Amino acid sequence: MNGKEFRHIGKITPRVDGREIVTGRARYTHDVKLQGMLIGKILRSPRAAAEIVSIDLAPALAVPGVKAALKLADGKIRYAGQQVAAVAAVDERTAERALALIKVEYKSLPSVVDWEKARDAAAPQVRDGKPNVDKLFEYDRGDVAKGFAEADVVVEHTYRTGFEVHHPTETHGSVAAWEGDHLVVYDSTQNIHGVRDGLARALKVPAANVTVVKNYMGGGFGSKLGTGEYAVVAANLARECGRPVKVLLSRRDNAMCVGYRPSSHQTYKAGAKKDGTLTAFSLLDFASGGIVPGDEVAEPVVDLYRCPHCKVEEHTVFTNTGAQRAMRAPGHTPGAFGLESLMDELAASLDMDPLELRRKNYSTKNLGDTGLPYSSKGLDRCYDAGAKAIGWERRNRKPGEPGGEGAKGPLRHGIGMASSIWFGAGVPGTLADIVLYPDMSVEVVCGTQDLGTGTRTHMAVVAAETLGLEPKDITVKIGNSDYPWAPLSGGSLTAPSVAPAVRDAALKAVERLRAVAAARLKVEAADIVMEGRKFSSKSDPAKSATFAEVYRDLRRETVFHGERGGMPDDKYAFNTFGAHFAEVEVDTETGTVRVLKYVAAQDSGQVVSRLTAESQVVGGVTQGLSAGLFEERVMDDATGNVVNPNLRDYKIATSLDIPEITPIFIDVVDPLINNLGVKGLGEPARVPSSAAVANAVYNAIGVHVREIPMTPPRVLAALKRKESAS
Ligand code: MOS
Repeated sequence: MNGKEFRHIGKITPRVDGREIVTGRARYTHDVKLQGMLIGKILRSPRAAAEIVSIDLAPALAVPGVKAALKLADGKIRYAGQQVAAVAAVDERTAERALALIKVEYKSLPSVVDWEKARDAAAPQVRDGKPNVDKLFEYDRGDVAKGFAEADVVVEHTYRTGFEVHHPTETHGSVAAWEGDHLVVYDSTQNIHGVRDGLARALKVPAANVTVVKNYMGGGFGSKLGTGEYAVVAANLARECGRPVKVLLSRRDNAMCVGYRPSSHQTYKAGAKKDGTLTAFSLLDFASGGIVPGDEVAEPVVDLYRCPHCKVEEHTVFTNTGAQRAMRAPGHTPGAFGLESLMDELAASLDMDPLELRRKNYSTKNLGDTGLPYSSKGLDRCYDAGAKAIGWERRNRKPGEPGGEGAKGPLRHGIGMASSIWFGAGVPGTLADIVLYPDMSVEVVCGTQDLGTGTRTHMAVVAAETLGLEPKDITVKIGNSDYPWAPLSGGSLTAPSVAPAVRDAALKAVERLRAVAAARLKVEAADIVMEGRKFSSKSDPAKSATFAEVYRDLRRETVFHGERGGMPDDKYAFNTFGAHFAEVEVDTETGTVRVLKYVAAQDSGQVVSRLTAESQVVGGVTQGLSAGLFEERVMDDATGNVVNPNLRDYKIATSLDIPEITPIFIDVVDPLINNLGVKGLGEPARVPSSAAVANAVYNAIGVHVREIPMTPPRVLAALKRKESAS
């Protein structure tokens, strides 16, 4: 269980499917073409709130080439983009033409799109007879009044985060085909087993009669965790037509109706002693997730620091906009922006190094939920390694006061950091099979899916390591719900669920191979060692058998079932940690922020595959910089339509905006978590990244921008605030 003994685990392995992906041979849902396949299209409401008076499908059905049409709404429309009707036709143009001919009569109803206006008691009600503002989460420990009374310094600020859209490269979509009463759906999903169950329920067929296939996908970030309405539409149209139907959503649909990260307005108050010891925290938060609740952002303030008194009150605000969906570390990402920004402003009030303030207060146990100590904890080592790599001593001693690199004309230079806590221990009960063939082929089979993170590679690495083979010797089969159960790929669960199951199956396979070798060599199995693609007798090294001989002795393919075991959850809390450090340059004339350098130190336990792990960190940081500086959905308040529903007007960072990113892994290997000590990484790498940049900007210009994205107008407004204060 020590990385140094491993040949492949924790080492650099090129993606086993890299060639397939870069040559365009990898088949994504968008690439699926079946014999006789029709194209389905969905008509969506242009209004934010309305009563459907009537839907007339007849003109669409009269179009030659149209094979079916469905009504998808009766009664109320609650957001623009809600599905109203659908058609299936022989090609895309015919389907679009038919869609345009469907006659829908709406009776407009009052709506509220702006979530600040929705808080007004006089605003139109989004949910019939219920107020727009509702309780989301409450938490209380200790006595905050006492804690604030004990404080020498108290700071209070409001931090705001906007609506961030997932915008995966591959838009959402499904291809549905019935083979008799068995439904096969090719779906761009993070959750093949979940979509199978969801489709079975929606279509009222047994789960055993549904197979969901996803070979490759171009991103999801949480927006593809559930059963899509479009998948149900594809299956229903296919059933009606007796032909396969493909439904792909557009880029605009991605902005309108398949989720986004909810907004938040987080008002924090923190109290501390002169020496930096925290005495009290309070958080009042408002969040909006459209027609569904927003995200709770409180987890970081509840659990990251050892503060004895803490009170949280969170509210959600309903609006006539599409439902939010989980997005890479839901809640934690905005929560870390708020809390970690506040920590820097508190450090300034205390005239203290913000890193020292964190070191003094970080918690070693889960305070809010279980009160249990964290099993293996590398946050302190993330602080050390990250600070060293960025050159923490180069920062300005006080925010905005040169002491480090200094000021050059309108340019100000700064360094900031932020920390994170996240779950990511994996799911007990995850299954994987290893199949050994007499010709020495080896298969690993698991009903997991690769959402782009490199799942096939980490499975091949674990199997090869355990079996004494090379990753290229392993055939990995995933992405089919008929394979052994694995959880959704979200919550940073995939590696810590799947890798231990593969390890377990492979260990069982090795045990059998040793027994087979022992029989061939006529020695005890305990006497057999596996090394250099051979099984040999320890007591008599002259006796040995090659892998080829021993595999041949299996005589037929042999399956070994592996399972990810349980955790001692009554003794420890299992979490991942990280500390991110950013260096920025701010142009005080234009308000532009450039990130110059970035260091991300992560405690995610044992690294399985170093290249894919690094790519998770680079991806998470890139997304955080992008969200922190550029990304924001803008709505038209009158109609509830998204004003920037494309990738030209919705700004996403490009490679030119992204600096050198240095991932650092703190290999704290925790045997209590699973048989490899693997923890999740995808979300931890995203959590503190916007906050680290915001704190670097604060260090550069001496005023905190307190709202992401930190667009030039917001940076300039913050600088104005500073001027008028001085
Ligand atoms: Mo993630 S938001 O659990 O895909």
